[in-house]
Amino acid sequence: MARKRIVAGNWKMNMTPSEAIKLVEELKPLVQSDSVEVVYCVPAIDIVPVVEAVKGTNVVVGAENMYFEDKGAFTGEISAPMLVDAGVKYVILGHSERRQYFGEDNALLNKKVKKAFEAGLTPILCCGETLEQREMGVTIDFISTQIKEGLYEVSAENVAKMVIAYEPIWAIGTGKTATSDQAEEVCKAIRDVIRVMYNDATAESVRIQYGGSVKGENAAEIFGKPDIDGGLVGGAALKADFGKIVNC
Ligand code: 13P
Repeated sequence: MARKRIVAGNWKMNMTPSEAIKLVEELKPLVQSDSVEVVYCVPAIDIVPVVEAVKGTNVVVGAENMYFEDKGAFTGEISAPMLVDAGVKYVILGHSERRQYFGEDNALLNKKVKKAFEAGLTPILCCGETLEQREMGVTIDFISTQIKEGLYEVSAENVAKMVIAYEPIWAIGTGKTATSDQAEEVCKAIRDVIRVMYNDATAESVRIQYGGSVKGENAAEIFGKPDIDGGLVGGAALKADFGKIVNC
């Protein structure tokens, strides 16, 4: 069964609403593709204008985070139903920057993953090791735990539809990309964890992205690996290079 490739831009804390609209217009002719799903994961304040700006194109919009409650006294948070109502389709959960700077752990992320599915959003669950963990040889163990705890009691049916992004922390924003073999090794291991937790069909259906200094010049080689179904792109998602990545 062929998995549809998915290339998502993670804009992080970049682009004011007016800058966002300009970027969407600039990228419009560059990201057209029938074979690749293209997602812009944008800051919360950019969601409404970007959903409007991508209307009539092949691009869909994602959020970079959400809270696990539907509504209430949670000052500053944004809920899954709010995202859905605004036209959002995907939500990045557990990016290493959220884990590192905002203390998000696997138990919290598990609640967010479940809520995203309940509301009708597709989560892009991020995982990845530090350089120290890689050097200690615990990469696969560490990532397996992130996946098992993050997906605790999530159904096979939902996991089959979701996206997992492997992002080695040492490759994020550093210009230091994992080699395509390093990326494939971990993405394959993630698929095998899903196989053990669920079954073959779920493992073959879940889409796994690589993220970490993906650029126009290295995307084709990385995305050419059998267990890598696309990328989660940071810095290069904010420029014309993103079109090259989508069409590589
Ligand atoms: P860079 O592409 O800037 O390394 O960022 C990767 C990332 O964190 C995407 O979520």
